Formats: sequence, structure tokens, C-alpha cells
Amino acid sequence: MDIGIDKIGFYSPNVYVDMEKLAEARDVEPAKYTIGIGQERMAIAPLHQDSVSLAANAALSILDEDDKEKIDFVLFGSESGVDHSKSGAVWVHQLTGINKEARSVELKQACYGATAGIKMAMGHIALNPESKVLVLGTDIAKYGVKTGGEPTQGAGAVAMVLSSNPRLLSLDNDSAALTKDISDFWRPLYSDYAFVDGKFSNQAYLDFLNDVWVNYQEKTGRTLKDFEAMTFHVPYTKMGKKAILAMTENEEESERDRLMEYYQSSIYYNKQVGNIYTGSLYLSLLSLLEQGPELEAGSRIGLFSYGSGAVGEFFSGTLKADYKNYLSKDKHESLLNERRELSISEYEEMLQQSLPKDGADIEIESEDMKEGTVYLTGVKEHIRQYVKK
Ligand code: HMG
Repeated sequence: MDIGIDKIGFYSPNVYVDMEKLAEARDVEPAKYTIGIGQERMAIAPLHQDSVSLAANAALSILDEDDKEKIDFVLFGSESGVDHSKSGAVWVHQLTGINKEARSVELKQACYGATAGIKMAMGHIALNPESKVLVLGTDIAKYGVKTGGEPTQGAGAVAMVLSSNPRLLSLDNDSAALTKDISDFWRPLYSDYAFVDGKFSNQAYLDFLNDVWVNYQEKTGRTLKDFEAMTFHVPYTKMGKKAILAMTENEEESERDRLMEYYQSSIYYNKQVGNIYTGSLYLSLLSLLEQGPELEAGSRIGLFSYGSGAVGEFFSGTLKADYKNYLSKDKHESLLNERRELSISEYEEMLQQSLPKDGADIEIESEDMKEGTVYLTGVKEHIRQYVKK
């Protein structure tokens, strides 16, 4: 059966930090952030945008009435969940008006959550060919002011509808996956900020990529030449470049150049948004589809998913004919171009804001609330209050 991604959209808050200005404020050579890390702008989530509202906004940008009627599973991949018990998927289900007979659940494994959602969706659709599944990857990446990870923060969500006979990308059932218990990056329940061993996390990412890529080639008999383009989890865009260099170490130079050219299209959005954790791989895929040249039907795309802690997986998909007709390039470019730049002091203040931790009520008020369709207005009697315009 032909199962895959039928629709994809994304959402990111309407405020950002310019990376050159952040570098100047941190007394760092700007080229370190723009070239060494590879980021131009970094999306910041104001208090009224959390993982639920970001995901709801991403979903609302792609869902039509037929989707709302046919979706019978909502899978919310996130490591920025807002409740230990209730899944973000339940709120998104209600805020987007999906039919009440759907199931809703949250999936967590660092940046791997949305990929787990894709795998579950594929199995579910194989058993229920008429079903549509909404898979969300939504996160707010926070390391804190003046930390090593500071230039690799970001915020945003990707929403995808998976179905049989998809219009964008057919997914192959050809994965190679790997799990190992390591401490490269984690966020204890008591902390708003992630803990990270930066250099170790980079190495772990590359080691996982190597292991699953070797395993994938053994399992499928495919080689690099079978792939038109590769997409990666993109914590910062230089990481994907390191991934291509590692994968092409023993290949002809022309192979490396070919993949590197597509890679530039695949990081166009990520450069403007930063790390959105579990949505990052899919933001990169969206970027390739929208910003890259039109690729032939049947072209094979590789996907490498990595979630610290750690789980990695390599899998692939093939493009459908006319996929460009079902994308929203102009809308996504406007979303990013119409954002407001934050001064460094505004950014620092915004990053350090958090909801009360003692159970007190809060009403959030901000000029920036006019953005998006869904936002958080506060917390009342321990219950988050979302509004849909
Ligand atoms: P750092 O120590 O600030 O940076 O940490 P650096 O000194 O390693 O420099 C970074 C790069 O900039 C280097 O290039 C420098 O040479 C270059 P590289 O050797 O890496 O190719 N550089 C310059 N380039 C041009 N002009 C200059 C200049 N100066 C230096 N003037 C680090 C960087 C990424 C480690 C840090 O920001 C960090 O800890 N970030 C968070 C962790 C992270 O993103 N890890 C990625 C892999 S783990 C992962 O992807 C999972 C994750 O998404 C979480 C999840 O799964 O949920 C993070």
C-alpha cells in the first residue's frame, strides 16, 4: 500500500533574534554564529505560545473539513509538553475541530517524537486504509541566556497529514533504527532549560547516523546513488553539513557536491527559525520541497531522525508527481518575513519568562498576541486557557 505525507505545514512565533546582533552582544565573532553554527535568525516563543498553541496553529494552516472528518488519530510529538498527564494532542484535537471519534496521544523521545508518530501512523493506515493521521512535531528549544547552547535555540511546530495515496511523499517501510542510553542532552522535570554536553551530542549524532546508515544499506542494498537528496534532523544548520561530509567521506566529490546543493535548499527555513527539536527534520524536508528545484516523480529522499538520549533512525520516501502544487511556499515565506525583531534585552527578558510554578493564576497580555490563530491567554485554577480567533 502507498502510505505517506499528504500535507505538511509549519508555524513559528512572530518574534526573532538576529544572530549577528546576538553574537555582538556575547562578544563573539558574528561569523561563528552565521557560518560556524549556520544560523541567521532564531525564533523565540512569547509566553502566549506554548507547544500546544504552536502545534494547533501549524495544524490549522493545513487542515480542511475532509481532513477533520477523516483524521482518527492525533499524534503529538514533543519534548516541551505542558502537562504530566494530559496530552497536548487532546487540546490540539479540540482547537482544530477534528471529529470526536479520533484518538489523541503525546509521544516523547527528544527530537525523535514526530518520527515515532510517523512510524505509528504508517502502521495504523496500513490496517485502516481510509484513515488519515495528524502527526505533530512541536517544541520550544531553550538553553538559557549566555549558555553554550544559546545560539542553537528556536521555537515552532510542523504538522503533517499522513494517508494512503499521499500527494507529497510516499514513505518506504525500510527503516534502520538504533537506541542507546546516553546523556548527551536532557531536561529534568524541574528545569525549564535543557542540559547538554555539546561536543558529545555532536559526536553522538554522527555516530548514530553512521550506525543506522550502514545498517540501512545492508538491509536494503541501496547506496548513496539511490538518493536524490538527504534530509537530517537540524539542531543548527552546520550539523547537517557535518552529516553530509561524514556520509560522503568515501564517495566521489561529485556525490558530495550534489547532496550539498540540495542541502542548501533544505536548510532555508531552519536557518530562520533555529532548532525546533522534534519538528526540525520535517521543517528541513518542507524547506527542500518548497525552496528546492522541482524534482522528478519517484526521486528518493533520505531522512535521518535523531533524538538525544538517544534514538536514531534512517528511512526514506519517494516524491509524488506534481508535489509542488500542494505546498504553500508564499505563505511560509510571509510567516517568516513578517516577524518582529527583538532587541537583545527584549529577547533575554522573554526567554526568562515562565508561567507561575506555584499554581497561581495568570492572565497573559501582549501586543504580539495578534499573531497566530491560537494562543494561550493564561492559567486559571490550574487549567491552561487557550483562545482560537
Ligand atoms: P561552541 O563550543 O560554542 O562552538 O558549541 P565551537 O567552538 O565548537 O564552534 C562551533 C563551530 O563554529 C566550529 O565549527 C568552529 O570552528 C566554528 P566546527 O568545528 O563545528 O565545524 N567557528 C567559526 N566559523 C567561522 N567563523 C568564525 C568561527 N568561530 C568558530 N569566526 C555547540 C557549539 C553546537 C556544541 C553548542 O552550541 C551546543 O551545545 N548546542 C546544543 C547542542 C546541540 O545542538 N547538539 C547537536 C547534536 S545533538 C541533537 O541534535 C539533539 C538536540 O536537537 C536535542 C534533542 O534531540 O532533543 C540538540
